[in-house]
Amino acid sequence: MERENFGSKIGAILAAAGSAVGLGNIWRFPIETGQNGGAAFIIIYVLCILVLGLPIMISEFLIGRYTHANTAGAYRIVSNGSLWKWVGRLGVFTGWFILCYYSVVGAWTMHYTLLSAINAFYDAPAQEYENIFNTFVANPWVPTLWLFFFIGIIHYVIIRGVKSGIERSAKVMMPMLFLITVVLTVCSVMLPGASRGIEFLLKPDWSKVDSTVILQAMGQAFFSLSLAMGCLCTYASYFDKKTPLAKTAVNVSVIDTVIAIMAGFIIFPSVFNIGMNPNEVGVGASLTFISLPNVFTHAFGNGTFLAVIFSTLFYFLLFVAALTSAISLHEVATAYVTEEFHLLRKKGATWVTLTILVLGTLCSLSFGPLSGVTLLGRNIFSMFDDFSGLVLLPVGGMLISIFAGWVLDRKLYRDEISNGGDLKTPYFKLLVFSLRYIAPIAIGLVFLDQMGLFNIFKNS
Ligand code: PFF
Repeated sequence: MERENFGSKIGAILAAAGSAVGLGNIWRFPIETGQNGGAAFIIIYVLCILVLGLPIMISEFLIGRYTHANTAGAYRIVSNGSLWKWVGRLGVFTGWFILCYYSVVGAWTMHYTLLSAINAFYDAPAQEYENIFNTFVANPWVPTLWLFFFIGIIHYVIIRGVKSGIERSAKVMMPMLFLITVVLTVCSVMLPGASRGIEFLLKPDWSKVDSTVILQAMGQAFFSLSLAMGCLCTYASYFDKKTPLAKTAVNVSVIDTVIAIMAGFIIFPSVFNIGMNPNEVGVGASLTFISLPNVFTHAFGNGTFLAVIFSTLFYFLLFVAALTSAISLHEVATAYVTEEFHLLRKKGATWVTLTILVLGTLCSLSFGPLSGVTLLGRNIFSMFDDFSGLVLLPVGGMLISIFAGWVLDRKLYRDEISNGGDLKTPYFKLLVFSLRYIAPIAIGLVFLDQMGLFNIFKNS
């Protein structure tokens, strides 16, 4: 069967940006920025994207587009059957693995969109928000039903195919996501006291920047750009020969970073408006599902129309961001199963969906009936989260950069990024230098840091 391509350049960019812009932009980046030196952190983050993120993203694009194959097939082709083919398989596994727990959070955003829309937070005292969240996630049914719903939507998009499913949905959802972000930002910066929130987010404080902060910025850049999970490689396998790879990578990175910074403009003005200590809002789930419902309810007036609309739009924004990222993760596995096992797309996608439903349900139940199942002090959800973030991603990223920098044929690399000589590539040497030296060393340091090695030195 003929392989599909994206129908347009803008479709390709929006789909890849949809993969990049996700929960990481909203629930991690703003708080990391605020606490780690504001604009100083943003500068370091952008540097990480330039020297580390872009070279790896371009390499992933290149391998995907050159081979026009799923990630495992792609690495098999470019590695000429050597052991490097395992890098592709690792990417597929990582994407699939992440999807299992990422979908659980996607499901929570749907529930919170509904809670916001029906004004469920009206009059809730500050300490009640934690209860609401804990009761919800511990319930054996409700989060699981949302999970099935969330995965059902992904499945629907995926079986419609690359052009009519992924590309078309990205063309609707990404402009919508951007529009909602702008509306929420405008509402938030108009709140009394907003300037202190903006100051918290942006005021450069270089004294906060130490090696840990730099490593954190690198880790965040990596996750946020969806590197090393097969997504970019898979999507690029649907790019046509004329798509400018470096330019597309720059566009995706810019969109991703702009949305992440705007998310900070949405969150902190409201936090300061209600006089909350920004260092106590938490990060990730506790920020998003415990602190923020409280913040929004009170910043925009308890139970007022504005509060309801703002909060509903915010969770809907999270939902759309999570959905487009989850679709990209599903596609990695679907393309793999379909092409490697010669299945029809619908059948391949169904197999992937079934496995995600089972493992995702286990992750979801790990906050309730399965909370007793732990390994190294982590519940099932955290095991998935930590194993992918702490092990699979850094290992995958390092292998990709080493492969692209040292093993991949130089001429092939140059031909592909220049689209057969049509485009100028003055950055080529820098790119190779980063792939060969900077990226592997930097990722190695992040890896060791995340494994806690540097803490040993600090504490001794
Ligand atoms: N980049 C997404 C985020 O920032 O939330 C998360 C993600 C999506 C990671 C897709 C990996 C991926 F393949």
